[in-house]
Amino acid sequence: MRIFSGIQPTGRKHLGNYIGAIRQYVDGQERGDAIYSIVDLHATTVSYDPAELRRTVLDTTAMLLAAGVDPERCILFRQSDVHEHTELCWLLCSVTAHGDLNRMHQFKEKSARQRELVSAGLFVYPVLMAADILAYQTEEVPVGDDQRQHVELTREIARRFNERFGETFVIPRHRIPEVGARIMDLQEPTSKMSTTAPSDAGVILVLDDPDTIRTKVKRAVTDTGREIVRDPERKPGISNLIEILAAVRDVSPQQVEAEFEGRGYGEFKQAVAEAVVEYLAPVRERYEELRPDEAGLERTLREGADKAREIASATMRQVRAAMGVGPTP
Ligand code: TYM
Repeated sequence: MRIFSGIQPTGRKHLGNYIGAIRQYVDGQERGDAIYSIVDLHATTVSYDPAELRRTVLDTTAMLLAAGVDPERCILFRQSDVHEHTELCWLLCSVTAHGDLNRMHQFKEKSARQRELVSAGLFVYPVLMAADILAYQTEEVPVGDDQRQHVELTREIARRFNERFGETFVIPRHRIPEVGARIMDLQEPTSKMSTTAPSDAGVILVLDDPDTIRTKVKRAVTDTGREIVRDPERKPGISNLIEILAAVRDVSPQQVEAEFEGRGYGEFKQAVAEAVVEYLAPVRERYEELRPDEAGLERTLREGADKAREIASATMRQVRAAMGVGPTP
């Protein structure tokens, strides 16, 4: 089974990214033929610093390797190294409805945050994402809940292409984890954890040191009740901590509720903090070892891109032929 997922380059990946996505990447290597891309072209759709973008691609590469993504068992590459993505994005624009792009939640959220320019790139972002996925004839896309709508649109684009130009693309489906698909901000548990939050106080970064993690969990917003039960409407803070503990321990939220029945918030938060520290510490340590070897990281990405290009270019030959673009094949 072909698995594909993409992740934006930043050195500030958080617990939501880790639980919702990165750990499914590691798992995907066992279940299928997995391909993962660090999507630097997507990162250019909002204001950014070019030198920093280069660095953050390497940060993200080191982080994925530290988490257990293994280039011997999957393909790991930088999106911009495989030019087929941008060409396919353009061609897919012809079967993408403007109205569908207008409905994308992420476009609405991100465009509202831009101070200087809402770029056309930000609008077309989901088409580039569809190109990433469809270029590899992907069956399964492991993502967090916030990417659900983008994967739905990818399916729609693939269907419309197949209808218009003949069977070309596999129709992919998302794989969204049952627990941890939407980790919330610890300070504002009704918003998802995100590095664009106004403050870092509610965002646990994968690279936070143990004391920072302990402080953030200790200060997490909870409600005035005392029960440790999941009720996202009335108790969003406690529900989020239950979800986090369940995810890092790999148990169900019900098991967490049963374990902490009758115990206080203080004790519960301490257990959450220690579990998260224990979960992330090995990743951070491994990251520190891997990150300095920039030549090695670049080599990994280059070798990955060579393998990815082989697959994507075969798809492009089919797409060009179907669309009547270029010389007769
Ligand atoms: P990105 O880089 O924002 O996020 C990477 C992954 O982390 C998941 N995620 C979360 N999961 C749980 N709780 C959260 N609070 C949380 N925040 C983020 C995201 O769902 C994602 O899976 N558009 C994508 C990148 C992309 C892509 C692709 C993904 C580009 N092309 C092709 C899949 C297939 C993005 O911005 O992810």
